Amino acid sequence: MNANELRKKYLEFFKERGHQIVPSGSLIPENDPTTLFTGSGMQPMIPYLMGEKHPLGGRIADSQKSFRAGDIEEVGDNRHTTFFEMLGNWSLGDYFKKEQIGWMFEFLTKEIGLDPKKIYVTVFRGDESLKISRDDESVVYWQELFKSINVEALAVDNAEIGGMQNGRIFYYPVEKNWWSRAGVPNNMPLGEPGGPDSEMFWDFGVELKIHENSQWRNQPCHVNCDCGRFLEIGNNVFMQYIKTQTGFELLKQQNVDFGGGLERILAAINGNPDMFLTDIFAKAKAEIEKLSGKKYEDNKEAFRVILDHLRAATFLIADGAYPGNKDQGYFVRRLIRRAVRFAHKLGIENNFCSDIAKIYIKYYQDAYTDLLEKSENIFEELEKEEEKFRKTLEKGLKEFDKAVGNFLSINEEGDFLEINDNEDKLTISRELSGKIVFNLYATYGFPIELIREIAKEKNIKIDEEKFKEEFAKHQELSRTASAGKFKGGLADHSEKITALHTATHLMLAGLRRVLGENVHQKGSNITEERIRFDFSHSDKMTEEQKKAVEDYVNEAINSKTDIVIEEMTLDEAREKGAEGAFENKYGERVKVYFIAGFSNEICGGPHVRNTGDIEGVFKIKKEESSSAGVRRIKAVVE
Ligand code: ALA
Repeated sequence: MNANELRKKYLEFFKERGHQIVPSGSLIPENDPTTLFTGSGMQPMIPYLMGEKHPLGGRIADSQKSFRAGDIEEVGDNRHTTFFEMLGNWSLGDYFKKEQIGWMFEFLTKEIGLDPKKIYVTVFRGDESLKISRDDESVVYWQELFKSINVEALAVDNAEIGGMQNGRIFYYPVEKNWWSRAGVPNNMPLGEPGGPDSEMFWDFGVELKIHENSQWRNQPCHVNCDCGRFLEIGNNVFMQYIKTQTGFELLKQQNVDFGGGLERILAAINGNPDMFLTDIFAKAKAEIEKLSGKKYEDNKEAFRVILDHLRAATFLIADGAYPGNKDQGYFVRRLIRRAVRFAHKLGIENNFCSDIAKIYIKYYQDAYTDLLEKSENIFEELEKEEEKFRKTLEKGLKEFDKAVGNFLSINEEGDFLEINDNEDKLTISRELSGKIVFNLYATYGFPIELIREIAKEKNIKIDEEKFKEEFAKHQELSRTASAGKFKGGLADHSEKITALHTATHLMLAGLRRVLGENVHQKGSNITEERIRFDFSHSDKMTEEQKKAVEDYVNEAINSKTDIVIEEMTLDEAREKGAEGAFENKYGERVKVYFIAGFSNEICGGPHVRNTGDIEGVFKIKKEESSSAGVRRIKAVVE
């Protein structure tokens, strides 16, 4: 069975039982400023759980697109994904525990034919401080159902300590068997609905041996132990409480919120705990194998990250979240960048993100018709981000290895030796100094999460404290600079000129990116109205080239990147690839202005603190010859 068939079967099943089928809501919640993403099917339903009448009545079923940003770094094992589809059915003051448990049992064991002997369930243990009692009612329903097909269903408690104890139904506390958007009761804000739940687990039958050779050694195996033997495939939430000042009170109505991970149920049907082996990922996986010449089996982590992240990015862009520096866009950017980094590791050197997106769009186009409509948009955003990041990545990775290579060598015992800056002697360390980390960040525009991850892979720690100090120090320097305290080459430090000066750095970097590394500054004159800038280049610029430089500068402005300053010798500045005049000044100490990911240039300042302070749109007004081999640009920020 594939995902599309399973989704259809599920929705049909509930339609036959009086449910109206509603389309999935957007991944970007509407009218809900409390959260960036739709992370469960419940979000769009809240008013109706509280008692507002749903226009379609009290029985609703759907398959809701969901995204859980908190799981980005968990992706890589066989069961974590950031994006998933949540099959949902809802009773809005209609049926309750008996019907829900009965239908679920029927759906899983009859409709899709899962072996009931491999299904285990959990229920709420009860909690005195909440004054909510143990859910023995659900236990009775589960026991009747299992009994009807001759499966013994003992209900046992304390599996965390005692293990399975031949049980089939297990009691767990609020940490496991309570559901609200905010998690456990203590975390719920006043007025938030929630309730006890009853979850279903699939037993992949991996022998208990797994405990002998792993971090679970000497610990009892139980359905919630997370060793990988059991997988939660569905959660029946009995949404009947609301948090109030005086504790939990019953809502006006009894509701059911069922959520089941479509990918997980599919994995259970497949009899293989690896979700990435379901049909959903088959074509994309094959494409990655083709592009990289490597096998999934030998490179599971990288494949899984790419498969998950590009699927999530495809759906998120379709819902209007474009790669960027804040809010939802920040996560989309992170997803794409991580996917590209792992692709790079697999040896995929050419842009490939939109090829993978194309495969997903095809797979999902009937269920999510908007994907096809938005496909051009999706490809464009993916290509833009990938293009940009590949450049950063290449430079940054080289620099990372160099930094590690310079500072660390390995002695005979296998310890890393670090040359200690201050005392000039070797100390044993597996730690990357704050300074190096900062350089990677500021000079090469390497996202800090990425530095952390690569360091982790290489089994190297990062001196986080020092990194923060370093970061704070440079920000401080930047602020002093923008207050005009560093008198550089500019005569007039009015704010407008300062902003145009920073724009000039960005323009030079853009010109070098578009026209080539032969471009250097030959002269610059800035007034409050405009930039006049001479640079080495022989040909007239085309309209496309001018546009590309404008885009580069405007993107930097929109990215709201902090400008940081570092003092160093000219040699060090050259090493870092800073742009500037190097002639006849060896040994001199200079200031380098870093605009992460966009520009680094030797300069006397002053500059704005953040590219966002440039405030406006950069435009090239004129491009003409100045003298032989030198062109002149007049540009403005409006
Ligand atoms: N809303 C419930 C969950 O996300 C079903 O687990």
